[in-house]
Amino acid sequence: MNRLSPVRPVETSPAPARAGGLRTAVTRLTLNDFRCYARLRLEVEAAPVVLTGPNGAGKTNLLEALSFLSPGRGLRRARLAEIDRRSPDGAAAGPWTAAAVLDSPSGRATIGIGRTGDGENGGDRRILRIDGVAVRGQKELGERLSVVWLTPDMDRLFMDGSSARRRFLDRLVYGFDSEHVGRVAAYEYALRERARLLAEGIDDPAWLAALEDSMARHGVAVAAARIATVARLDRAAGAGVGPFPSVHLTLKGEVEGWLAGSPALAVEDRMRAALAASRAHDMAQGGAATGPHRADLLAVYAARGVPAAQCSTGEQKALLLSVLLALARELAAERGAPPLLLLDEVVAHLDGARRMALFDEISALRAQAWLTGTDDELFAGLAGRARFFKVLDATVTPR
Ligand SMILES: Nc1ncnc2c1ncn2[C@@H]1O[C@H](COP(=O)(O)OP(=O)(O)OP(=O)(O)O)[C@@H](O)[C@H]1O
Ligand SMILES: [Mg+2]
Repeated sequence: MNRLSPVRPVETSPAPARAGGLRTAVTRLTLNDFRCYARLRLEVEAAPVVLTGPNGAGKTNLLEALSFLSPGRGLRRARLAEIDRRSPDGAAAGPWTAAAVLDSPSGRATIGIGRTGDGENGGDRRILRIDGVAVRGQKELGERLSVVWLTPDMDRLFMDGSSARRRFLDRLVYGFDSEHVGRVAAYEYALRERARLLAEGIDDPAWLAALEDSMARHGVAVAAARIATVARLDRAAGAGVGPFPSVHLTLKGEVEGWLAGSPALAVEDRMRAALAASRAHDMAQGGAATGPHRADLLAVYAARGVPAAQCSTGEQKALLLSVLLALARELAAERGAPPLLLLDEVVAHLDGARRMALFDEISALRAQAWLTGTDDELFAGLAGRARFFKVLDATVTPR
């Protein structure tokens, strides 16, 4: 239980990412009524993609569309109905759709994403189609590709509350364990339902016990998968990548501590008992006193022994890049494909040496990175290794 079940990509023959041959990459992106894009059809190669243009041109919106190729919420964590294109008078078109052609060593797949119409949950339920066939759940998406991102919002990842760090970590776990997304959802559902019963004063011991059982089973699996990923990335990022800093990662939490000393089944029992004992407390305080929703991901700039929160903005960005590059290397080794890297305005914050090292690492990994910026000169180091596009007023044209 406290081991990751390795996810095998859907492929017929193992294709090391560093060897020649096909990469896993998006080669066509089509958008309809997606934020500022009424219609977009963008054809690209498997090489990295550089999108440059002025503020408000539509660069981040494009990365947001790509972020829906992975399980969970998109990179802005927006409600799906917010994404429908609005005209200046506020009238919304839509519902939006996005489709991507994904090429990988196992062949080509078309992934369609959208939202339900206004009927269900205010249209905030995601629709997924793979090669035209409706797919329930998001596990299959995670099996096909992994997508990770770094955005300007994440500049405060180490400064703000722990929930954003847990979400960041969970996204890293998806790459190794496609069951994780379902377990996190099941855990959070049981956590919310239990909190609702307690808040409404519904004292139904059997119902509460069933929810606590679900929290214990899914919660311990979630904690175990996070622990395994943190240990793996701690090893991989501990060495640093060229001028990128070495990072020491740990996961702090009560249940996580129990897992260090006891088998998973014993920890499930302990969590069930702790939840049963904390009902009165949780009724008064809200939430639940025990569980992986209280864990925190800690990062330390290893060479200096300084916690990430005390590092400069540029250093924190470099630490996060170290973690993402470590993940990319690990996924390339395990799945034969690195993740899609969505790097929004990352390059502008890096000094020249780190910028070049990032370009070289992306090239060595044969990762399809999508990089944005306002200044195309900063990407000169990728000349001949990436495709360059100009984004202006929601149109995307080759440079
Ligand atoms: N639902 C929507 N409908 C229509 N337009 C939208 C919607 N949501 C956002 N926009 C607009 O899309 C435009 C492009 O936004 P985007 O964040 O992609 O810009 P950007 O190129 O990343 O700019 P910056 O360099 O400032 O980050 C903005 O003008 C924004 O107001
Ligand atoms: Mg932007």
